[in-house]
Amino acid sequence: MPAEVARRAEELREQIGYHDWRYYVLDDPEISDDEYDRLLDELRALEREYPQLVTPDSPTQRVGGKPAPQFRQVRHLQPMLSLANARNEGELRAWLERNLRILRREGVEVEQLRFVTEPKIDGLAISLVYENGVLVRGATRGDGEIGEDVTSNLKTIAAIPLRIPDAPPLIEVRGEAYMPRHEFVRVNEERIARGEPPFANPRNAAAGSIRQLDPNITASRPLSIWCYGVGATEGIDFESHYASLEWLREHRFRVNPDVELHADVEEVVAACRRWEERRDSLEYEIDGVVVKIDDLRLWRVLGVAGREPRAAIAWKFPPMTATTVLKRIGWNVGRTGHLVPFAELEPVQVSGVVVKTATLHNEEDLRRKDVREGDEVIVMRAGDVIPQVVSPTSRAVRRPDRPPPPAPPKRCPSCGTPTVKPPGSVWTVCPNRWACPGQLFQAIKHFVSKGAMDIEGLGEENVRRFLAEGLIGHVADIYELDVERVAALHGFGRKSAEKLVAAIERSRERPFERVLYALGIPGVGAVNARNLARHFGSIDRLMEASVDEIEQVEGIGPILARQIRETLDEPYIRDLVARLRRAGLRFASESGEARRDGRLAGKTFVLTGTLPHLTREQATELIERAGGRVTSSVSRRTDFVVVGDNPGSKLERARELGVRTIDEAQLLELAGEDGRR
Ligand code: IVH
Repeated sequence: MPAEVARRAEELREQIGYHDWRYYVLDDPEISDDEYDRLLDELRALEREYPQLVTPDSPTQRVGGKPAPQFRQVRHLQPMLSLANARNEGELRAWLERNLRILRREGVEVEQLRFVTEPKIDGLAISLVYENGVLVRGATRGDGEIGEDVTSNLKTIAAIPLRIPDAPPLIEVRGEAYMPRHEFVRVNEERIARGEPPFANPRNAAAGSIRQLDPNITASRPLSIWCYGVGATEGIDFESHYASLEWLREHRFRVNPDVELHADVEEVVAACRRWEERRDSLEYEIDGVVVKIDDLRLWRVLGVAGREPRAAIAWKFPPMTATTVLKRIGWNVGRTGHLVPFAELEPVQVSGVVVKTATLHNEEDLRRKDVREGDEVIVMRAGDVIPQVVSPTSRAVRRPDRPPPPAPPKRCPSCGTPTVKPPGSVWTVCPNRWACPGQLFQAIKHFVSKGAMDIEGLGEENVRRFLAEGLIGHVADIYELDVERVAALHGFGRKSAEKLVAAIERSRERPFERVLYALGIPGVGAVNARNLARHFGSIDRLMEASVDEIEQVEGIGPILARQIRETLDEPYIRDLVARLRRAGLRFASESGEARRDGRLAGKTFVLTGTLPHLTREQATELIERAGGRVTSSVSRRTDFVVVGDNPGSKLERARELGVRTIDEAQLLELAGEDGRR
């Protein structure tokens, strides 16, 4: 193997590690996804050619580990302790007094005590061992002494560095792996759509994902980590906890930016209250604040009581559960026609918020929990802002006059169509697909949502309003909204109308995988949409794919493949795709070979008239495959107008604006397809 190949591979690994850090830890990428993919592809190609180049810390090894038959047990280099709790300010102050007494008794002079406050992340505690800067082992906490070796699974978490620069011979980093809230909501939506039980909270979701024997499954569940401390070390020592966190941050670990250092207990209490107020707006679940004495020498003096270090304490927030009465079980129609049960509750406060309704997910869930109308139930707010019913209380279950289990309604609660339950399905559905107003509302809500087209300003209320006032009657109508019509609505200022239309405009730039997800094909959540987009590269290829071909896609089994095929064949979906395509949405991947070598990369085309050989769809596909984009109207940003027979007003417009016009032969030549046809 030539020496420069090894050098190049090393350089690529270093660069990819750096860019992972910029993207996943700092949230501040320096290069485009495209450039990043190019680096990774180059490294993959080198490693394919020279397999001896593959190192365990190569970024290509994040995914692809083999499923483990079971996890190996590992003894932690240092025990992973737990924390004592303080439920209020009094208990926090008592903790401090106790520690001051011990320090005095031990004859330790304390000039000034400093404290660090950190969010107490509700996830899964893990330990990461780096030898000479290379991640050699990742383990769960287990019982604190012995954990499980989940190295392959943890490597799939992109925010965990596989190697770190300027490292001591040994350092053990500790942190909490967690599932971001929006991912939790998404993963659950997908599970519910597949008829699987949803995770009760993000912590279970994170723990379940990491303790997956197959690392590919872990990789498909987007997890992250906050690092909060250092365990065993060799060749490095820290005087203060805060200094250790700074060291971690400087060495590419993800450390919460809102960790604070305080000079007195008043500041600590204020910080705890601030966290409590922010709790619901965070992207991760927290169940309290960890207060730590900063001086690590004092940790040694104070020692451990039971399994808990005296130098730290958890300020716990009130629980997210409450007990109330379930007044009625109602049903909503979901975006794919599924009837979704929900609970109407006697209003109750759950950690500061009044809860009146809670979701019951699906009929399966309802049966499993066995809740009935009139039951006293436990409700919980977790991850999702939507509260859920956990279970009836034991008292409710013993009630003598308990009504029978609730049954789904015979008619759709939105359009009144008689409902059906397809054989073998766990769902009752409204068969009035694409015409039921309830389904349309949900479909639009999904289409504009954050993970999909992400159209700011088109929230639930506006969607409802636009539907009611007839501004939209179809998902694709969104792209026909203009400032005049929106501004004409009562209470809608011109400014906000302009803002909304600008947001709609921006959404045309969303990548193909997001558009595919936004279509709302049952079973195609964000992860499947990404995999499908990567595999097929364009909607046209997907539209032509057989069930067998769809099944080749990672994470898609035979049942789902058939379901996707059937949905793609529905005239409504074909029409929706055609209309959205005319609106200029992206129906081909930007990534992969097409984009990279794309001779038309970055170029915008408009088609007009009938071309001699290609249909409009074929021309569009050809342009998109070569990295270009097709839009419906000519503007200054249009690069080429492709002119066929009987061109329309677009040709005149092109001439007015001085946009270059070409014919089919020139298009083929530009795309590099002239010789091939
Ligand atoms: S320190 C020295 N810091 O809470 C004490 N723990 O109840 C060891 N946790 O098992 C933990 N966020 O899973 C610490 N900022 C944080 C934390 C945190 C969450 C979890 C961790 C630990 C449990 C202790």
